Amino acid sequence: MKPKSSLDRKNPKPAGSRFSQDLYRGRLAAGPDPEITRFISSLKEDLRIAEADLAVNQVHSLLLQKAGILSARERKQILIGLGRARKEIERMRSSWPPPEIADNFVDIHPWIESYVIKSSGMEVGGKLHLGKSRNDQVVTDIRMVARSEILEIARELISLLSHLLAGAEKEKATVFPAFTHTQPAMITSYGHYLLAHFGALSRDLERLSEVYPRLNLLPLGAGATAGSRIRLDRNQAAGCLGFDGIIDNSTDAVSSRDLFLEIGAGLLSLAVNLSRMAADFILWSAPPSRMVELPDEYADTSSAMPQKKNPDPLEMVRGKAQLLLGIFTHLASAPAGLPSGYHKDFQDLKVSLFAGLDETRASLRVMNLIVPRMILHRRRMAELSAQSGIAALDLAEALAQKAGLPFREAHRLVGNLVRETQRHGVELGKADPSWVTGLPALLRRAGIKNLAVFLNPDELLRERKSLGGPSPAEITRVLRKGKLRIRKLQKEWEAREAKVQRSRRILDAQIRKLASR
Ligand code: ARG
Repeated sequence: MKPKSSLDRKNPKPAGSRFSQDLYRGRLAAGPDPEITRFISSLKEDLRIAEADLAVNQVHSLLLQKAGILSARERKQILIGLGRARKEIERMRSSWPPPEIADNFVDIHPWIESYVIKSSGMEVGGKLHLGKSRNDQVVTDIRMVARSEILEIARELISLLSHLLAGAEKEKATVFPAFTHTQPAMITSYGHYLLAHFGALSRDLERLSEVYPRLNLLPLGAGATAGSRIRLDRNQAAGCLGFDGIIDNSTDAVSSRDLFLEIGAGLLSLAVNLSRMAADFILWSAPPSRMVELPDEYADTSSAMPQKKNPDPLEMVRGKAQLLLGIFTHLASAPAGLPSGYHKDFQDLKVSLFAGLDETRASLRVMNLIVPRMILHRRRMAELSAQSGIAALDLAEALAQKAGLPFREAHRLVGNLVRETQRHGVELGKADPSWVTGLPALLRRAGIKNLAVFLNPDELLRERKSLGGPSPAEITRVLRKGKLRIRKLQKEWEAREAKVQRSRRILDAQIRKLASR
């Protein structure tokens, strides 16, 4: 079947004559094939950049006036047209893109331009695209959207880090079994465990903090790739749009996508760290552990097995790491091998980048709900901390430290003792040292009169004084350091957010004034 064209192929209308994408099809005799239009379209996802694109157009019209291209009256007409376009987008938001737009436009930029032309006439609106290109425009829009998403993600992450710090403070003496190889390893405290996640996630926040200054640079004004004859004040544009500066080289500005890779890597690391935290909670809420429990509101159950209490949201968070890896793979690999300059291959990166930001933010929100409300079964934690010879290393260390035994010797003797406890079916605290030849004398030399007393978990934790270890004194030190670190990062992020909001308020006020005068 012959595809229907939006234009009569024999009688193409001159460029710009219709309120459609033939705005810039003067080079082509025939109108676009509707199927191709839909295939190459990014209209649907462009709704997300619409607000940014309107701001970009506003600022661009300010600069065109400053450069003498637009009169003050023309600038006003354009600003009014942009205001109307915004209302129009709001009206269509729930059904975006409506068929009449989807049939005629491949992205939102020419639709906004056409709308301004319709509103202010070709004489005026037809001047709006001078000195810019969709290439610099789209990447500016994406940076603005990514910026506000990353500001939100940082806010959520700071909140999660604060929950972890508060939990660590409260549970610094709660005895808890630490694992290696999923096997009980050493006694620690729940507070010490939470600080491990604090450490990893605070690095993720730092990573995003390091990316931000590179993200918040303006590509606009780069034109299609190699600049423009029109010299517009790009630094002013940067200020108006809340950027910290401009990307200097125009080809770099429109054609580099390493920023997306970098953001994707930051999100991926965050997703992996969240995934591991979720995995802990999933494991520990399941029998036979049952050391933690999700509040009912956050659990799901089974439609078949009535007894089930399933940790579905945690499993979703766990799975997002793999999803983020897929997204990262796209962000990192799509630009590889592409020659310099803009390519349409880039268009889908927008979809991946936004998906990555959305998924990460959603996971963080869920963890912010769960972490501070997790039900802790402290008795169960203590029970499991008294099993499986979990304090064997403490005993071996004490023998080496206090009885002057080579650690290898101590390790062997305690290993023998653990083997005997298994044979007798008792825990280490109930072991009889005389099961191992020579051990009673060594214990006496080490000042250990009674194994059960030595193995008191509170005492063991107090003695575990290595830097970064779980002794309450060390936890207090690490907590204090962590709080300072977070406060510093929080201030940094708040200042960034305030700057973006301030520039937005100033721009809005300026536009309101100019569009009404
Ligand atoms: N929709 C395009 C994108 O998202 C905008 C830039 C189009 N530029 C072009 N030369 N076709 O990447």
